[in-house]
Amino acid sequence: MHRYTTTAIVLHWLIALLIVGTFTLGLVMTDIPGITPTKLKYFNWHKWAGVTVLLLAALRLLWRLFRHPPAYADEMPAWQRGASHGLHWLLYILMFAVPLSGYFYSLATGYPIVWFGVVELPVLIGPNPELKAVLKDAHYWLNMLLAALVALHVAAALKHLFVDRDGVMARMLPGLRLDSTPKEFP
Ligand code: HEM
Repeated sequence: MHRYTTTAIVLHWLIALLIVGTFTLGLVMTDIPGITPTKLKYFNWHKWAGVTVLLLAALRLLWRLFRHPPAYADEMPAWQRGASHGLHWLLYILMFAVPLSGYFYSLATGYPIVWFGVVELPVLIGPNPELKAVLKDAHYWLNMLLAALVALHVAAALKHLFVDRDGVMARMLPGLRLDSTPKEFP
């Protein structure tokens, strides 16, 4: 069995960390009542981290289009390959849809985004109260869908690691053994 390339592994874990951080910060900042300096600071950090996810997701998609992932193990049933493939593509779609909905929501509220306070990002739409309400809901529900699919993805990875013990987790986590360990010892 082969591993993913180092680039794919680095992008996977970097994006995973950033998504968990951005998601948590999103929940924390929207829970702060009123408008406070801390809340505004968190909003900025959230937007900068979210735009970073978008850029890294674009890099990752490019990499994925030109470098095929390692093949599934021969003994993996067809339904599992289909489910895994489908879930991975849904996650790719959400890696774009979630930050883009946040980006356009921010623009619809009339706040342009200055990435890390330095790079002014394109103002593609002007302030728009109707669109603002739709995009706020879209950003929330796309996030909930992302959270549910990430939970499924993690559960599947843990099943491979602890139940099937088939080396699938090691393809994305250097340090683990790639060869399969027998389920029962003689
Ligand atoms: C992976 C990327 C992202 C994740 C995981 C994420 C996650 C979240 C979450 C969980 C919330 C709280 C939703 C709620 O409870 O109402 C939120 C709110 C928000 N996000 Fe994001 N977000 C991402 C990217 C972005 C980007 C790129 C922007 C803008 C450039 C952005 C702008 C906002 C804003 C302005 C809110 C506050 C919504 C409100 O006013 O209630 N987000 N985000």
